[in-house]
Amino acid sequence: MNREVFKPNREFSKSARIKNMCEYQDLQDFAMRDYEGFWGSYAKEKLEWMEPFHTVLDESKAPFVKWFLGGKLNVSVQCIDRHLNSRKNKAAIIFEGDRGDKQIITYLELYYNVNKFANLLKNEFGVKKGDRVVIYMPMIPEAAYAMLACARIGAIHSIVFGGFSAEALKDRIIDADAKVVITADGAFRKDKPYMLKPVVDEALKGETPVKKVLVVERNGEDVTWVAGRDYSYNELIKHQDVKCEPEVMDAEDPLFLLYTSGSTGKPKGVQHNQAGYILWAQMTMEWVFDVKENDTYWCTADVGWITGHTYIVYGPLAMGATTIMFEGVPTYPDAGRPWKMVEEYKVNQFYTAPTAIRVLHKTGEHEPAKYDLSSLKVLGTVGEPIDPPAWKWYYEAIGGSKCAIVDTYWQTETGGHIVSPLPGATPIKPACATFPLPGIMAEILDENGAKVEVGEKGLMCVTRPWPSMIRGIWGDEERFVKSYFGDVKKDGKPVYFTGDGAIYDEAGYITITGRTDDVINVSGHRMGTAEVEAAIKKHPNVAEVAVVGKPHEIKGEGIFAYIVLKSDSGVADEVEEVKAINKVIQKEIGNIALCDDVVFVPGLPKTRSGKIMRRILRSIAKGEEITQDISTLEDPSIVATIASTVQSCKL
Ligand code: PRX
Repeated sequence: MNREVFKPNREFSKSARIKNMCEYQDLQDFAMRDYEGFWGSYAKEKLEWMEPFHTVLDESKAPFVKWFLGGKLNVSVQCIDRHLNSRKNKAAIIFEGDRGDKQIITYLELYYNVNKFANLLKNEFGVKKGDRVVIYMPMIPEAAYAMLACARIGAIHSIVFGGFSAEALKDRIIDADAKVVITADGAFRKDKPYMLKPVVDEALKGETPVKKVLVVERNGEDVTWVAGRDYSYNELIKHQDVKCEPEVMDAEDPLFLLYTSGSTGKPKGVQHNQAGYILWAQMTMEWVFDVKENDTYWCTADVGWITGHTYIVYGPLAMGATTIMFEGVPTYPDAGRPWKMVEEYKVNQFYTAPTAIRVLHKTGEHEPAKYDLSSLKVLGTVGEPIDPPAWKWYYEAIGGSKCAIVDTYWQTETGGHIVSPLPGATPIKPACATFPLPGIMAEILDENGAKVEVGEKGLMCVTRPWPSMIRGIWGDEERFVKSYFGDVKKDGKPVYFTGDGAIYDEAGYITITGRTDDVINVSGHRMGTAEVEAAIKKHPNVAEVAVVGKPHEIKGEGIFAYIVLKSDSGVADEVEEVKAINKVIQKEIGNIALCDDVVFVPGLPKTRSGKIMRRILRSIAKGEEITQDISTLEDPSIVATIASTVQSCKL
């Protein structure tokens, strides 16, 4: 695995927070020598405490751990109030709408907007500490205000990505037992309005715990108002006081829930708590993006995903940075849009997903040359492995061969980056997440907890708890323990397993090889195959279904469904049937889960005990020869039948 190495830019390193690998190693040695001292000193230095913590870490009930016990703080104070002395007139958020409309929100304005929003939730809607508030919003500044307003009054927000369907939204509302939904009429995409409020209306049909809906009017399209339930944000906000005392929160009170896919059909409500989460969000912003006081930072994610939480809102604001929020799509009006914005706002750090890079490369290879991208210092990628051609284009055409690319590896559950290059220190290798960040005890282990040899694929684990790690799955303690601490033990103790495979190279660099479970990664969005299967099974003609991931040129992975129709289904037109099945998926989950391939087969490859052999289905989807032993299958001949059906579909 000899790969090209790109050394950090010397000029950049001189003023970087971590300047070289010796400094990196010193920090990591400090953490290894005195773990609690390491974290305790950063927690004291970086956070503004209302009451100091007395204990750094309590592992007595592991894996249910507690950080910074006794400490009291408020996350909205970390992100806003404490900057008012030195940065009140600094841009906190730069917003650009789909149609090019712009807003610059200073820290002082953010303070007033969030306070008013918090008062609205508290006084008009009766939201209290610990209540759950679902946010179903487009990428507009009010989404950030809503998050911070919840944090200010101690409510637990649960953002549902705007691409999810009414059914998916309803499931999440019910699971979180949310009493309020914050939404918008809709927003703009490719110069056209699209709608969100009707999806909320649909989701709230029948029994739900929701009492009030707050609607931000963004695109001005007509929406239905339910009297006594729906209220206009634009109206109510006018009457709110600009001061709202921050709630005193315990370091371990929940901050938010974010639903993500696992290996069963039901999404998991990942819970993050106050102090540990915000500490690591800020530290990784400083170390990994090395944002400086006058920099402009842009992460293109959506607030509906963890990247939007940590690296558009909480991390940048906690460190007092200027963060860009963009409503539109990167390829509209053309694939030069992001580069035009980089030029216009003089963006210094740009963070996006490999899928976006592949699309921008494919549809606008020569666009970057039209713009001045010289302000860029650090480029980032997240969410899925990046392939070497996309990496090379990003490095050369966007970064002018002078910017570090930080390939940040992390998950909804980890709260922030766990394995990533440091832009001023780490010699980078294309498509490689490199080393654990200081303080993170990430190791590639085998099933028995032993560190794997160079070049041997193993399990990406973290052997000690860290402050921003998941604290639980909402309402399901057992699933939390089973999902993350069931597979690998080191020295007899369960360790956190990410669900990803990884490899060390001869220099100790970590390369992530992808999920080892039934979770697939479509355009950097995590999707449980069981979730898609559960949706497809709702179609009355479907008897059985198995969904697998298949490599996809742009999306990284696409969704491939093998479907057995009921014998009496009488389906004559397969094309129409595929459309009908995709409609069910659209209704149950949303467009993000639509299948790229659907093949109707007479049966699935099952063992005698009835277990579906997905490895075989993955191989067939990829067009690989079947080398696995199929003699243990109930009906070995089914493999050839499926393979020839897939083959004939391609012809
Ligand atoms: O498989 C890994 C992949 O994305 C998964 C986490 O997905 P999610 O919780 O939705 O969070 C995405 C944003 C952090 C991981 O289990 N993944 C994330 N980053 C990388 C990655 N795979 C390869 N390289 C990465 N840099």
